Amino acid sequence: MVTDGQERVQPSGVWATAVGVARVRALETERANPLFRDPLAQAFAAAGGLWPSSSPLPDGDEEARRRRLAVSFSIVIRTKFLDDLLQQACASGVRQVVLLGAGMDSRAFRMDWPEGTRLFEVDTAAPLDFKASVLRQERAVARCERITVAVDLREDWPDALAAAGHDLAAPTIWIAEGLLIYLPQDAVELLLARISAQSAPGSRMGLTLGSPGVIERFGADAAPGSAASMWVSEMPDDPVGWLAGHGWEADCHTLRERAAAYGRPISTPPQREERPGGLVSAVRR
Ligand SMILES: C[S@@+](CC[C@H](N)C(=O)[O-])C[C@H]1O[C@@H](n2cnc3c(N)ncnc32)[C@H](O)[C@@H]1O
Repeated sequence: MVTDGQERVQPSGVWATAVGVARVRALETERANPLFRDPLAQAFAAAGGLWPSSSPLPDGDEEARRRRLAVSFSIVIRTKFLDDLLQQACASGVRQVVLLGAGMDSRAFRMDWPEGTRLFEVDTAAPLDFKASVLRQERAVARCERITVAVDLREDWPDALAAAGHDLAAPTIWIAEGLLIYLPQDAVELLLARISAQSAPGSRMGLTLGSPGVIERFGADAAPGSAASMWVSEMPDDPVGWLAGHGWEADCHTLRERAAAYGRPISTPPQREERPGGLVSAVRR
């Protein structure tokens, strides 16, 4: 696709999942009484070829349809959870936001930010370029100071973030939404250690973690190239203890509990034990 006389890079590999997430947010935005509004999401989905429809499922594949709905539902609930967490962090005085694996997250454009807020979006170059071209097309204007940092999170991203102006002395709220499930366990550990090393007292964190068994249930027969086919890590057995080991005091929630709190209760009974942990908020001790 050509935009502004430039070729727009098309979604591929792991970052294509970010456009799928945008499609889900666009659908939520169209609902009556949405849990959030994301006015840019539709443009991201359309630019990635996922609007108005995404890839069709084989006829009669009820199981695949059910799984797709479940993933979409979890994206809506986690978005609301992290929107609330960001607002709470701002209310507590935090003015530095880092979105790790930011993808098509448009919070810089759709949320109200206190004066002086700096928001860093960290992702690889291709999704950030794609995003920039859609933002230009939509003439989108950020509602805070927005800084993009193109780097692979398995590489030396702390230096890249510092070079972009991240202030180690000021508290930060870190968001890793829909990210950790794509990183192998050793990369998740390293990421947590690096976040912790750059978190001044009063820093906060919002994480989403794959619930136990989700890779086997969703990933085993997932279509090649689909999001679930790229999932590699789930949450540890004891997420609170795991984060305490990294110096964080964490609160863990289930999707079911948050969904009920937001007025979108899950009507089907749990098919297995649901341990808290998929949606995590944490404060630096
Ligand atoms: C499912 S998307 C979620 C995007 C965004 N956090 C959201 O919820 O809208 C996962 C994102 O993580 C990014 N990602 C995955 N692995 C990464 C890595 N090693 N370095 C940087 N970004 C990565 C992808 O490019 C993609 O944008």
